[in-house]
Amino acid sequence: SYNLRNRHFLTLREFTPQEIGFLLKLSADLKTAKYAGTEVPRLTGKEIALIFEKDSTRTRVGFEVAAHDQGAHVSYLGPSGSHLGKKETVKDTARVLGRVYDAIEYRGFGQPIVETLAKYAGVPVYNGLTDEFHPTQILADFLTMQEHSDKPLRQISYAFLGDAHNNMGDSLLIGGAKMGMDVRLCAPEACWPTQAIRDEAQAIAEETGARITITEDIDAAVKGVDFIYTDVWVSMGESKDKWEDRIKLLLPYQVNAEVMAKTGNPRTRFMHCLPAFHNADTETGAEIAELFGITAMEVTEEVFESPASIVFDQAENRLHTIKAVLVATLGS
Ligand code: CP
Ligand code: NVA
Repeated sequence: SYNLRNRHFLTLREFTPQEIGFLLKLSADLKTAKYAGTEVPRLTGKEIALIFEKDSTRTRVGFEVAAHDQGAHVSYLGPSGSHLGKKETVKDTARVLGRVYDAIEYRGFGQPIVETLAKYAGVPVYNGLTDEFHPTQILADFLTMQEHSDKPLRQISYAFLGDAHNNMGDSLLIGGAKMGMDVRLCAPEACWPTQAIRDEAQAIAEETGARITITEDIDAAVKGVDFIYTDVWVSMGESKDKWEDRIKLLLPYQVNAEVMAKTGNPRTRFMHCLPAFHNADTETGAEIAELFGITAMEVTEEVFESPASIVFDQAENRLHTIKAVLVATLGS
């Protein structure tokens, strides 16, 4: 067991492979205990602030239910209704919340914001998604991969197709490098992670034995792969002006039945952090269908709804992995 008491959770780069492995094991144990009805609350009386400057379904319910299961309380501070970033600086908000709460979750814009909170709050701060990183998602993804594979993580391969120049691309690259995995990012060069992130991942890989491929070549990227992963082409906080360009750039990288077949591996599973644009049944979906005449972007309805799709296992595992982070950093 590893002592992570009072640690922040800002990116996976601050954690050793052993510590990440410990969080995954704790997640699996907490999941088993919840199913068995034997969960022991270790956060009784703790107060956790949940700041959301962007919308959320999974991350919000993950933190709320994880806290509740463990005996803690939460306050939800939504995109409007608090002074953060408008009338009050992040630094001042951090010092106020740090006096009142035992921990703070932040979802929002630039990574420097969550780092400023961490610097001044005096209590653990958790990154619930920034423009650059989404580390709690990666814990859920790795737990889900373990559940759907009989191999250890370091032997597992995944290919991420689509907009790799975002929080998911960065996080899957750094996370997979940390855990010594076979990580393939497949996108047009304009959608690759920054050179700095790529260099960092390569340096980590040299320590851990991870294999990293960043390529425009779909056939090479998906060959034999265990998991194919994708994410939206336009992320929260980006403007609708990007839709047209991204569709042009990324349509060849859409995960469809043909791409799934290209792996040559009948056991390849499909993953997505969600929300996904796979039909026109949402407000955004209908708007995009009308403007561009397509009813799916990063993944087709066929693949999304296929038996290969494990996206709802990932979604559930957000709860168990977020709970592990809370218990490890705050638990008695
Ligand atoms: N995957 C994820 O973070 O989902 P939410 O935006 O619903 O939290
Ligand atoms: N890249 C997406 C991830 C959502 C969980 C976004 O930032 O909108």
